[in-house]
Amino acid sequence: MADISIEIAGMRLENPFIFASGIFGKEYSELYDLSDWGAITTKSLTYHPRDGNPAPRIAETPCGLLNSIGLANPGVMRFVEEELPFLDTLSTRKIVSIAGETEDEFAKIMDALSPYEGSFDAYELNVSCPNVSRGGMAFGTSAELTHSLVARVRLCTDKPLIVKLTPNVTDIVGVAQAACDAGADAISLINTIVGMVIDIEHRKPLLGDRFGGLSGPAVKPVAVACVFKVASAISVPIIGGGGISSWRDGVEFLMAGADAISVGSAVFANPTIINELTDKLSSFIDRGEFTSVRDIVGVARG
Ligand SMILES: Cc1cc2nc3c(=O)[nH]c(=O)nc-3n(C[C@H](O)[C@H](O)[C@H](O)COP(=O)(O)O)c2cc1C
Repeated sequence: MADISIEIAGMRLENPFIFASGIFGKEYSELYDLSDWGAITTKSLTYHPRDGNPAPRIAETPCGLLNSIGLANPGVMRFVEEELPFLDTLSTRKIVSIAGETEDEFAKIMDALSPYEGSFDAYELNVSCPNVSRGGMAFGTSAELTHSLVARVRLCTDKPLIVKLTPNVTDIVGVAQAACDAGADAISLINTIVGMVIDIEHRKPLLGDRFGGLSGPAVKPVAVACVFKVASAISVPIIGGGGISSWRDGVEFLMAGADAISVGSAVFANPTIINELTDKLSSFIDRGEFTSVRDIVGVARG
């Protein structure tokens, strides 16, 4: 089998596939070894616990999933007590995603996590979640706010900082550049795209919070375009994802300029998808047109 390991932001990953934030749960470990993923990203953590948005929180659409989970999470203290010990048992890379309503909240979460930084490998800043009525979104929709936030939290840690961007902007390249200028070690894109489903029988939006974030195959072309544009403008590595459900989708992202690939919604339909992704990507490299994953990165950009 071909070697499909990669290096990103100072981390070596056994393979380029990263379990996207919000989907991972330890129950998957009953089905297969979660360390089969190149890296695992936790659900975004806030400082205090959050119940999330009112139900219903998920709606199926023809080519994707609309969710308005609203960052439901146990908060940083319970995460440390209840979830970190399990993550510690995994031999793969661990990325802790954090979200806050203010710069101070991001910094407070990182302060609370600092004694435990030996148990994980990187932070991902969720500046992009479109489901929360206050917070997150505001940072990622502005280059200035993104710069200020990243510069602030850069002072809180020496760990790799990944900044995950929202596609719900007019100039994603400008926001990516601002994050890099402020010290981001990698850029992750894309988060979900704002969407809505109307329940025509009840004549109102189906989701409890009305709007949701669209993910799954419907968003893939948007995500590939974002990766292609951003890769031409920045020099730090990119984690590309949005709608990936096969190894071929992953290769599209690599060819557009992603150095690693994140997979989220597809895991709901196929919980063990990681084994198929790694086997088939290895076979693709074995075909001999490319000698490594690195070799594929950006080839579609000419
Ligand atoms: C149910 C659900 C929950 C999510 N929660 C988070 C989250 O907490 N933080 C985050 O940065 N992204 C979150 N996302 C976005 C995913 O990490 C991913 O960026 C997005 O779904 C696009 O990828 P996909 O089409 O492969 O799912 C969530 C997505 C879904 C479907």
